[in-house]
Amino acid sequence: MEKSLYQFYQNNAVEFPSGKDTEGKVAWQSPSNIAIVKYWGKHGNQLPNNPSISFTLASARSETFVKYQTKHKEGVSLDFFFEGKPQLAFGEKIKTFLQSILPVFPFLNHLHLTIESKNTFPHSSGIASSASSMSALVMCLMEIEKKISDAQILNETFLRKASYFSRLASGSAARSVFPFASLWGKSANFDDSSNEFALPLEQNLHPVFKTFRDSILIISSGTKPVSSRAGHALMDGNPFAAARYEQANKNTGDLLNALKTGDLEAFIEIAEAEALQLHALMMTSKPSFILMQPESLAAISALRAFRNETGIPVSFTLDAGPNLHVLYPETHSSQVKDFINEELLQYCQNQNWIDDFVGTGPSPIDFIS
Ligand code: PMV
Repeated sequence: MEKSLYQFYQNNAVEFPSGKDTEGKVAWQSPSNIAIVKYWGKHGNQLPNNPSISFTLASARSETFVKYQTKHKEGVSLDFFFEGKPQLAFGEKIKTFLQSILPVFPFLNHLHLTIESKNTFPHSSGIASSASSMSALVMCLMEIEKKISDAQILNETFLRKASYFSRLASGSAARSVFPFASLWGKSANFDDSSNEFALPLEQNLHPVFKTFRDSILIISSGTKPVSSRAGHALMDGNPFAAARYEQANKNTGDLLNALKTGDLEAFIEIAEAEALQLHALMMTSKPSFILMQPESLAAISALRAFRNETGIPVSFTLDAGPNLHVLYPETHSSQVKDFINEELLQYCQNQNWIDDFVGTGPSPIDFIS
C-alpha cells in the first residue's frame, strides 16, 4: 500500500523543463497541532501504530520562505537559515529528507534553495516545532511544483499530497495541513482513512469545536529528556503496547463521534484519558521517563476542581512534556482566563502561557518580491 501511493506520486512527478532557467520565491505559514488521541509508536517509514486525532492550532506557527534558482549541477542543494542565522545541522537534516523524496520532486535536482524559517512561538516554550516547520516546508515544495507545472490542482489533492510528504518529514506534521481538526491513521470508523496521510475533519465537526481555545501553560521550557523518535521506539518493548493500541482505536471511534455531535462530556473524558495514558506509557517504558513536573499535577488537580465547582467544560491534554494544554469552548473564555490568571499562573515558569486556539490551517504568505 505504502509503495503504491508513493509510486503513484512518482509516476505523476512533474518533470523540470529542460533548457529553461527559472527563479522565484514562495512562502507559507503552517501551524502546530495538538493531538487529542495521541500518536505514540510507529513502524516502517513513519507509519503510525494507531490512529490519532488533533486540533490544528492558530498562533503557534512556522513561517517558511523558499527562494529557488536554476543550477546546472545535479543534486539537492540548499542553504538553511533559522531566524536569520545559518543552521548547518538542521540544513543537513532537510537535505536528507529532500534527497529521499527526489523521485517525486525531481525539480529538487535542478534548483538551489535558500530556505528561511522562523516560528511565532519562542524556541524555549516547549512547543514542538517539527509539525509546523516541516508542513510549512512541504507546502512551499508543493507550491514550487505547482508553479513549474502550471497545472490546475484540486485543493483536496494538493492537501492530501502535502499531508503525505509532511508525514515522511515528521509524523505529526501530516495533521497540520488541514483546518480545525484532522485524523491520521487507519480507523474502522472513518472511510478512506489511511496510515499514509491525514484527512480533514471539518465536515465532521460540531461548530463548538471550531471555537475551541488552547491555553498552553508553560510549566517548564527545558529540553525534553527523551526525543519523540526515541519515545516512539520505546513502545516496541512496552508491556502495555497491545492494550494501548486497542484503547487508541476505541478512543478514536468515540472521539470522532463526540466531535460530530458536540458531546463535550465525552470529549473531556477521552482527552484527559489519552494525555495521562501517553505519560503512563512513558513511565512504564524501559528506560522509564517521568515527563510531568509536580506543577503539571498541581495544575491538573486545580483544573478538575474548577470544573467540578463551576460545571464549565474545561479539560486538559499534555504533549510529551510537562506543559498543560487547557482546552475549552470560546463561550467560556473569560471565566477560564480569569481562572488561569488567578490560580494556574503560579504553576507556570515565569507565569508564562500562550493563548492559542483552533485555526484554519496553512496559508501562503504575501511578500514583496
Ligand atoms: O511527530 P512526532 O514524531 O514528533 O510525534 C509526536 C508525538 C506526540 O506529540 C507525543 C503525540 C502526537 O500525536 O502529536
